[in-house]
Amino acid sequence: MAQQDTPKKLWGGRFAEATAASVEEFSASIHYDARLYRQDIMGSKAHARMLAKQGLISAEECTAIVDGLSEIETEISEGRFEFKPELEDVHMNIEKALTDRIGAAGAKLHTARSRNDQVNLDFRMYLRDQVVLLDGLLAEGQGAFVRLARKYLGAVMPGYTHLQRAQPVLLSHHLLAYFEMLKRDRERLQDCLGRINVMPLGSAALAGTGLPVDRHFAAQELDFPAISANSMDASGDRDFALEFLFCLNLVQIHLSRLAEELVLWSSKEFDFVRIGDRYCTGSSIMPQKKNPDIPELIRGKSGRVTGALMSLLVTVKGLPLTYNRDLQEDKEPVFDALDTVTANLSIIAELLDNTEFNLERLQGATHGGFMTATDLADYLVCKNMPFRQAHSVVGKVVAHCQDRDIELIDLTLDELQQFSELLEPDVFEVLTVDGSVNSRVSPGGTALVRVQEALDQAEKYLG
Ligand code: ARG
Repeated sequence: MAQQDTPKKLWGGRFAEATAASVEEFSASIHYDARLYRQDIMGSKAHARMLAKQGLISAEECTAIVDGLSEIETEISEGRFEFKPELEDVHMNIEKALTDRIGAAGAKLHTARSRNDQVNLDFRMYLRDQVVLLDGLLAEGQGAFVRLARKYLGAVMPGYTHLQRAQPVLLSHHLLAYFEMLKRDRERLQDCLGRINVMPLGSAALAGTGLPVDRHFAAQELDFPAISANSMDASGDRDFALEFLFCLNLVQIHLSRLAEELVLWSSKEFDFVRIGDRYCTGSSIMPQKKNPDIPELIRGKSGRVTGALMSLLVTVKGLPLTYNRDLQEDKEPVFDALDTVTANLSIIAELLDNTEFNLERLQGATHGGFMTATDLADYLVCKNMPFRQAHSVVGKVVAHCQDRDIELIDLTLDELQQFSELLEPDVFEVLTVDGSVNSRVSPGGTALVRVQEALDQAEKYLG
């Protein structure tokens, strides 16, 4: 094979031959890590300033590097920069372009730095920005639930366990359950941010550097509150990416549960919601169809988001310390999960704003299914009957109603008293749906007063 005088890559003298084209193609990551260009440039500028402050490069060299990087950033953002796959990744593409542009000073940028700490830095900076964006999207999602909860305050519906009618609840209570899930998702991401926000630069390849760097200065320049404590840990660590993926996964799982409910609820069998036409699709063959494709797709995309987490866990699983090239496989799953969850969050907020609840159907579904049976048992408990005995008495009442195909509320006082003499005329109050709902005044319960409080608090929280 013909030898090249100047190997295309930056690793220079060690190699007599240029990398095989197939290897270049196989190992390139530029088609996805170009996404990190802003962070890479920001990190390099801070690194250059640190080198200048420490006397490792001159002030003029630092200026040439910073200005050159600014030009490259503009070119990339305007689509005028040509990324070359033979230069492997975003780091080498930018460094090579800089050196071509400013000469010797560019070749000094990589002093006291390795791509191992560089890529770790870039990825952390990228993810911390994404946490902020996700937080905004989650807040918008919460807003959509809160608006619906306010709009439908007072409407009743069946609450389910095992997808069987269980106890009547307020629709707003059900909707605010999702507000809480998204609240935890936001908190979880903020917590994760604390561990993303640790500056790895200065770990170099794995062992740190003998050159007189100032890691705290670089951290300050890049707005990191902390620096990593162990260079070997830092250069091979992807915990922050895994945690971030887990946070995305829980968001996705929450959206998927909602999606499942929307699919069920928009079926003729339930007919609880009407999703706006603009957010549904038709069938190419059945003219009558209106399909909930958006919730279905959201539910379906859970597969790839969960897959992304599994993929990175398995990638990291068997890796000896410290950096291994396997770790280049970290970015694609994270980017894919991020894009997916971001898109899901955006569309679900829109869809919720274009969804109407069928209050008649919801109310109608609270009749039938003996959903106030627990209330009847609680009534007996208030009259000092042990709960287990009350449970058994009410079970017999329900069986009696089932045989006659009637509801609890249809029973006469005489009939009720055959089961227990403790049952008096005021029992009928607890047998109504509203009576049942409004009796559940325990903190976090579904009584109107509690839900009103929760809604006020949610609105206050969102500001
Ligand atoms: N593109 C590489 C990655 O994403 C950058 C680090 C390469 N380091 C190395 N020693 N080959 O992991």
